[in-house]
Amino acid sequence: MRVLVIGSGGREHALAWALNKSPMLTRLFVAPGNAGTAEVAENVALDITDHEAVLGLIRRENIDFVVVGPDAAVVAGLGDDVRAAGVRCFAPSKAAAQLEGSKSFTKTICDEAHIPTAAYGSFDSAESALAYLQTRSAPIVVKADGLAAGKGVTVAMTLAEAEAAVRDCFAGAFGAAGARVVIEEFLEGEEASLFVLADGESYVLLPSAQDHKRAHDGDLGPNTGGMGAYSPAPVMTEALTAEVERQIIRPTLDAMRNRGMAFTGVLFLGLMVTRDGPKLIEYNVRFGDPECQVLMARLQSDALELLLAVAEGRLNSVTPKFSAETALTVVVAARGYPGAFSKGEVIGGLDAAEAEGVKVFHAGTRRENGAVVSAGGRVLNVTALGATVAEAHARAYRALSHIDWPGGYCRRDIGWRAISRG
Ligand code: AMP
Ligand code: GLY
Repeated sequence: MRVLVIGSGGREHALAWALNKSPMLTRLFVAPGNAGTAEVAENVALDITDHEAVLGLIRRENIDFVVVGPDAAVVAGLGDDVRAAGVRCFAPSKAAAQLEGSKSFTKTICDEAHIPTAAYGSFDSAESALAYLQTRSAPIVVKADGLAAGKGVTVAMTLAEAEAAVRDCFAGAFGAAGARVVIEEFLEGEEASLFVLADGESYVLLPSAQDHKRAHDGDLGPNTGGMGAYSPAPVMTEALTAEVERQIIRPTLDAMRNRGMAFTGVLFLGLMVTRDGPKLIEYNVRFGDPECQVLMARLQSDALELLLAVAEGRLNSVTPKFSAETALTVVVAARGYPGAFSKGEVIGGLDAAEAEGVKVFHAGTRRENGAVVSAGGRVLNVTALGATVAEAHARAYRALSHIDWPGGYCRRDIGWRAISRG
C-alpha cells in the first residue's frame, strides 16, 4: 500500500515512523515533511493548502491512502477533496471538522447534547461582547471562534484584560477567525486530553495524554503549541474515563451523526477535571502535537491497519494495543519561541541521544549540506518509554544531554504533576 502523510511537524514524523513499521506498507511519502520524516519516507515539497497540488501528487504516485496531520488542512476540508478523488483518507469531513474550526459550533453541540462544558456567550460584535463582560467577573476566558494558530485564547485575570482581548479580536488580530468571539467561564482543575478514533458508526478510546502548554518550568510563561507530553495521564482514572465516555464522547458522536455530519478520524478532547467532574474545554479533530508522539511510542498494533480501519468504517474489527509503559516526550525549541527565534542552526548529537534507547522525533528541522539544521520554533521531541513517568522522564533527559544545539531550550520538568502524585 502506498501512503501519503500530510504535514511537517513532530506529529507527522511520529505518524510516518509508526506507519513505516507496517508490513502492509510499500511506499511512504510525506508532504512536505522534515529531516526526520526523510529517514522513513520520501519527502515531497508541496504547498499543502493547494489541494490541487496534493491531488496531483496522489495521482502521480498512485497513492492508496492519505493521513492528514495538521488542523488547518483538516479544517480546510482536504479530507473531502481526497475522498472525492476516490482515495481513502484519514481525516474528518469539513463539516465535522467544525468541532475544531468553530468554537461556537462546538458550544451549540454541547447545548443540544447536554455536554458538561464552561458556561458561555457567543458574540458577533465588540459591543455585544463588551456588554456581556459587564455582567461577568474575572477570571474569564475570551476565545476567537475560528482557528488562530493556537493564539486565539486569552485566559483573562481581570475584566480589563478580557475587554482588551475582545477589542483585539474584533480589530482583526486573528483575521476571519476573530469575527465571532466566545466568552466563557473560567474552569479550575487539572487538564487532560483523551483521544478517540471514530469511523462514523463505532469508536475506540485511545489512551489519555497530558501536554505542557506553557513555555517555562512550573507551567509558567507564554502559551505554546506544547513543550512536552506524557501518556497515560494518571489524572484520567478509569472511572473518570467512563464518565467522559458517557457524558461527552457518546453524546457528541451521536449529535454529529444525527446532523448528517458523522465524525470520522481522531477526536481529541481537551478536558478540565473540575470539582464538579470532567468538563469539555475544546475539541480538536486531529492528533495533538506532541501528544501524538507519546501515543505512537506506546502503540503496539499496526498503525496503518488501525488508521485504515477508521477510513474504511471497519473500526469494530480492530482493537488497538498500547504498551503499558509510560511514554514521555520533551520538546526542544528554538530560544525565543513562541516569540521570534533564529533558524538554520546546526544540531549535533542526535545519534548519541538515540543510542540511549529513545526516539528523537523531528519537528522544525531540515537537512542542509548533510547536517540537520533548525527550521522552526519547536524543533525536536525526545521521546522515551519507562515503567513509570519518573523513569521515562529520567531517560528522556539523559538522552537530551547529548544534543548539541546551543540555540535550543527545553523545559526541565515535563511530567511533574504525574511524578509528584508518586
Ligand atoms: P486552546 O488554545 O483552546 O487549546 O486553549 C488554550 C488553553 O487555555 C487551554 O489548554 C486551557 O489551559 C486554557 N483554557 C481554555 N478554556 C478555558 C476555560 N474555560 N477555563 C480555564 N482555562 C481554559
Ligand atoms: N498540543 C496541543 C495541540 O496539539 O493542540
